[in-house]
Amino acid sequence: MGWYSSYVFPRLCEFGLNNHRVAAHRSTLLQDARGEILEIGIGSALNAAHYPSHVRRITAIDPNPGMHRWAAARIAETGLEVDKRILSSESLPFADESFDCVVSTFTLCSIADVHQALGEVYRVLRPGGAFLFLEHGLSPDPGVARWQRRLNGLERLLADNCHLDRSVRELVAGQPFAKVEIDEFYLPKTPRTHGYFSRGQGIK
Ligand SMILES: C[S@@+](CC[C@H](N)C(=O)[O-])C[C@H]1O[C@@H](n2cnc3c(N)ncnc32)[C@H](O)[C@@H]1O
Repeated sequence: MGWYSSYVFPRLCEFGLNNHRVAAHRSTLLQDARGEILEIGIGSALNAAHYPSHVRRITAIDPNPGMHRWAAARIAETGLEVDKRILSSESLPFADESFDCVVSTFTLCSIADVHQALGEVYRVLRPGGAFLFLEHGLSPDPGVARWQRRLNGLERLLADNCHLDRSVRELVAGQPFAKVEIDEFYLPKTPRTHGYFSRGQGIK
């Protein structure tokens, strides 16, 4: 992990994702969090303050040690107990059907092998468990999508492999969830290339 990923990228994430407009969607998403929870790509732990009060403990992974430093400081302020591990979601060291809930926010865009990671998410979920996601992704508007594809290389370079051209709806549909609910919308006051959001859940 290079100095850019460890030191610069966490600050970029704070700049882009630590604001009240995104925070409102984090709270809405996490109101359905329950039971044994795994968060993939915890980053700087911007979700920590948004778990409902009955959630006392979660397991969380992220491959970037620089992110873990930021996460530690924020978690300390919340009282949430977090079993935090430096790991990638493509290969999870957890037993099949060991979580009631897996949470991903703005992480599917960055995972190198996102299909494999989603397979792992599905594997570790218990039957009836929920995959809760809040992600940005490919817009259905051809004009926006054209710009997303043009900017994708630059985005990947500057934002640690973040893709603008991944369809969240299609990624989630790639797993055999029994039921999927998705709200899709543009986040106000955000460039449309970066602000096409998908918030929802897949029930195993
Ligand atoms: C844009 S940040 C989002 C952080 C946080 N989830 C949030 O909502 O603010 C993307 C995160 O995904 C993490 N990430 C990248 N590749 C990953 C992988 N293979 N497995 C899990 N997390 C990964 C990055 O280290 C980074 O912390």
